[in-house]
Amino acid sequence: MKLYFAIVWTAFALVNCGGGAQENSAEANGTSLQTTEETKPKITGKKIELTISSDDQMQFDKREMTVGEGQEVTVILKHIGKMSKEVMGHNWVLLHQGTSITDYAMKALDAKEKEYLPEEIPVIAATNMIGGGETTSITFQAPAKGTYDFICSYPGHYGLMKGKFIVQ
Ligand code: CO
Repeated sequence: MKLYFAIVWTAFALVNCGGGAQENSAEANGTSLQTTEETKPKITGKKIELTISSDDQMQFDKREMTVGEGQEVTVILKHIGKMSKEVMGHNWVLLHQGTSITDYAMKALDAKEKEYLPEEIPVIAATNMIGGGETTSITFQAPAKGTYDFICSYPGHYGLMKGKFIVQ
């Protein structure tokens, strides 16, 4: 739990650095302390924080994630398994509309040294690749209203590890 809060805090700290929004830090901290159920979206003003878990069975615990247009989104990815990232790595990659999941996943095969994020196909957002017991996060601006695909780009995972990211 301590680690979780540390990571959330770090995410907010990074956000605050980037945006220079000092006055938000107290508010953000308060939200973390009040939250008891970490899988529910946390909304603070224009910020929304979504947690998605992954495991050794090559699964995400969510098939759908919904945010609002204009929101600053933080996606926290947890790997609750025990296997290393070399054999059961997971990331969370949000594709642009018009990018085919299969095309992206095929290109990702050749991008091992880039943690399976092929540079020639830009994405909206992507986390680091993590292994069992690890947590990572990514903060980005919600794209325009619509439905987007998210996947894990580790080789062979996109068949099971995918879902819809909905901006409304
Ligand atoms: Co994976």
